[in-house]
Amino acid sequence: MDNEIKTIGVLTSGGDAPGMNAAIRAVVREAIYNGKQVKGIKRGYAGLLTEDIIDIDAKFMSDTIQKGGTILQTARCLEFTTEEGQKRGAEVCRKHGIDGIVVIGGDGSFRGAQKLAAQGINTIGVPGTIDLDIACTDYTIGFDTAVNTAMEAIDKVRDTSTSHERCSIIEVMGRHAGYIAMWCGIANGAEQILIPERYDYDEQKLVDSIVESFNKGKKHYIIINAEGIGHSTSLARRIEAATGIETRATILGHMQRGGTPTCKDRVYASTMGVLAADLLCRGKSNRVVAYKNGDFCDFDIDEALAMQKDIPEILYQAGNHLARH
Ligand code: ADP
Ligand code: F6P
Repeated sequence: MDNEIKTIGVLTSGGDAPGMNAAIRAVVREAIYNGKQVKGIKRGYAGLLTEDIIDIDAKFMSDTIQKGGTILQTARCLEFTTEEGQKRGAEVCRKHGIDGIVVIGGDGSFRGAQKLAAQGINTIGVPGTIDLDIACTDYTIGFDTAVNTAMEAIDKVRDTSTSHERCSIIEVMGRHAGYIAMWCGIANGAEQILIPERYDYDEQKLVDSIVESFNKGKKHYIIINAEGIGHSTSLARRIEAATGIETRATILGHMQRGGTPTCKDRVYASTMGVLAADLLCRGKSNRVVAYKNGDFCDFDIDEALAMQKDIPEILYQAGNHLARH
């Protein structure tokens, strides 16, 4: 099996995430260690379709492990969601002698990898998204850096909020998922954590809680609002009107996706990259690497995409109960 794969391609797709470079570097170096050629595909599936493909050697990856973003660039590509696009993607792989691809990205990117595997190209997915919203894994590349970046920013907002005795709504990323909000809510000692998974839209309850907190002598009221709920600015206006307490909204935005990756993101991304390259070298396809129940492992992509995930109840309980004082 081993000598069936001669050339491995690697691409990053969807939203970038700190640690993606560490994963690319690991794929490249592990593949070279196993005697394979490596090609970098730029701008995700978009670059595959436009044949934006470069040769990569071990040196190409020097001085990248500490860098945020992705040196291969990333993109979203509508054309690749069509069967025609996927067939063309597989043809491009064959034309460039790419017989296996590592796709670093989120759920959407894994669906693309699944389709490419169905077209006969060996594919392995590596979970890369700051959202942590991939069901088969307890870790995704970039989440650790993103929550640490957001946590530091929220500490700063808290200082000014306390000084002015205000209510502050801080919106963190997470397209459909509240993981970043939940972690920051706990880490920053927020008074309220709003996540799409559990939002009850009972604004009167929120208003009552703010008023009660200030009446008890609190000098601020920090609300962490997940992007999946959004509308932080209008919520701030409504809270101020209902409570008479000055309220400000801060949307942290893309600063959460950038920056130098944490140690955890570098180490886990490197390990996942090595595992992905090894799986391809062993002739495996249609699999994703993961970190589950304390260990690195891999799953069939179809099974991985069918899995469901929710915020652990104990995390939700911690966020809520600790905010009540
Ligand atoms: P993420 O990978 O972070 O979840 P997206 O959902 O935007 O990000 O997906 C990234 C890219 O993966 C899309 O732009 C598209 O090219 C590809 N993709 C997403 N869904 C599919 C699908 N069902 N079939 C084929 N390709 C897909
Ligand atoms: O998937 C990561 C993520 O940062 C989400 O949290 C967010 O909703 C989305 O990407 C934003 O994407 P864009 O790059 O299109 O602004």
